[in-house]
Amino acid sequence: MSAPTPDAIRLWDREHLWHPFTQMAEYAQTDPLVIVAGDGPYLIDDRGRRYFDATSALWCNLFGHRVPEIDAAVRAQLDRLAHSTLLGATHPPAAELARRLVEIAPEGLTHVFLSDNGATAVEAALKIAFQYRLLTQGREAAARATYLSFDNAYHGDTLGAAAVGGVELFHDVFRPILLPSLRAPSPYCYRCPLGLERATCAVACVTALEDTLAREAGRVCAVLLEPGVQAAAGMLTLPEGFLTRVAAACRRHGALLILDEVATGFGRTGTLFACQRESVTPDLLCLAKGLTGGYLPVAATLATHTVYEAFLGRYEEYRHFFHGHTYTGNPLGCAAALATLGLLRAGDVLADVTRKARLLSEALRPVAAHPHVGDVRQAGLMCGVELVRERATKTPFAPGERKGHRVGLALRERGFYVRPLGDVIVLMPPLTASDEQLRDLAAALLAVLHEAA
Ligand SMILES: Cc1ncc(COP(=O)(O)O)c(C=O)c1O
Repeated sequence: MSAPTPDAIRLWDREHLWHPFTQMAEYAQTDPLVIVAGDGPYLIDDRGRRYFDATSALWCNLFGHRVPEIDAAVRAQLDRLAHSTLLGATHPPAAELARRLVEIAPEGLTHVFLSDNGATAVEAALKIAFQYRLLTQGREAAARATYLSFDNAYHGDTLGAAAVGGVELFHDVFRPILLPSLRAPSPYCYRCPLGLERATCAVACVTALEDTLAREAGRVCAVLLEPGVQAAAGMLTLPEGFLTRVAAACRRHGALLILDEVATGFGRTGTLFACQRESVTPDLLCLAKGLTGGYLPVAATLATHTVYEAFLGRYEEYRHFFHGHTYTGNPLGCAAALATLGLLRAGDVLADVTRKARLLSEALRPVAAHPHVGDVRQAGLMCGVELVRERATKTPFAPGERKGHRVGLALRERGFYVRPLGDVIVLMPPLTASDEQLRDLAAALLAVLHEAA
C-alpha cells in the first residue's frame, strides 16, 4: 500500500479527526499544520517548513525530538517485548524504573504506581488518598471525606482530576457531574482574587486554605497542589514559601499532600522536582509528561511507605488498591523513561536550565515592557506572557479578539510553534534549547507584538 498523499491526510483529518481542546468549526476552515518529522528542538511540516517547538510537544519533550539515546532504548526494548501486563507479573523496565524513580524522588517516597498520563497519575493519587482514609480511619470517616484544591488548578480531564480542577473555562461545564470538593483561592498574584498586593499580602491565600482545613476538622483526606506553577491556568507562579505552609497545614490537620508535578517535574523549574525548592516531601507525588522525555505515555504516582503500608494485609481483607489500566507500565515507555532519567543524570542539564532561565528572562525584558504585556511570569524554563488591552488597568482583550491565538499564528509564520492559553503566550522550550534559540524566540515574540500593536 502506498503512503497517503498530503492532500489525503488533510482531507481525512478534516473529515474524521476530532482534535482536543479545539473548536472544530473553526479548525475545519483552516489549512492544518501537518507535522511529519522532528529534529532536535524543531518540528517539520509536510511542506518542509521547520518550527522551533516552544511547547515542547505540550510540555513533555525535554531534550528535543529524535534523541539518539532514547531512540536506541526504545528500539532495543522493541526487540525484546512491546507490552505485557503488570497485573500479577512484572518486567525489567518497570522494576528498574520504579527503583530509579525512588532514588531520585524526594526522600521518603518509596513506592511507585505506574499509569499512562498526567490525569491517570492524579486519579490514582485521589483514589489512594481516599482508600487510605478508609483503611486507617474506617467507613464513617471515609464517607465524610473530601478533597481540597485550588482555584485555577489543573490536574487533567478525567472526572476525578477535573473534580479537583479550578480552571473555570475547562471545568465549569462539567461541574454538575463532578464529585463535590473544596477550593482555596488561587495564588494568582497579578490578579489577586483577594484584592491584595504581593509585597504586603503575607500570602493570605494560604491563610484561607489553613482556615478551611481547620473548619473542616479532619474531613479533608487530601490537599492537591501544583507546586511552583499553576501551569494550565496561564503559568501562574506561586510565591516562595507557599508550598511549605501548605505542607505544614496538611500535617496539622491530618490531610495527605498530593503534589502534581506533571508539568513542573523533570527539571522544568531548574530543580528535578519543584517541591525540592522548598525541601517538601509530599505523601503522594504525580509525575508524567517529561518522564519519558516526551516520547510515550507513562505516568507515575509515588507514595510514602506509610501510605503504602496501609494497603497491606491478608488477601481476604481486600485492602489492596483496586485500580489499574491495561497499558500500565508499558515496557517501551519504561525504556524511554529510563533513557530519559539517564540523560538527566548525565552532564549539567539542571544547572544549565537555571542559567538558560536567566538568559530567557533577560531576553524577555523588552517583551515585559511592551504596552500590551501585563505580566511576564517565569519559573525556570516555564514562562507565561500575559497580554492585556490596557496595562495600567490590567484590562484584558475581549475573548472574541483571539489575541493570544493571533500572536501564536504570527509566531508560527516566523518559524516558532506555541500554543497560547487564552491571552497568555506560553513559552516552554525543551531543556536543551540553545542560548541562541531562546534569544530568537524572545525576539520573535517582541517583533510579533510590535506588528500586532
Ligand atoms: C499539572 C498537570 N497535571 C495533570 C495534567 C494532565 O496530564 P495529561 O494531559 O497527561 O493527562 C496536566 C496537563 O497539562 C498538568 O499540567
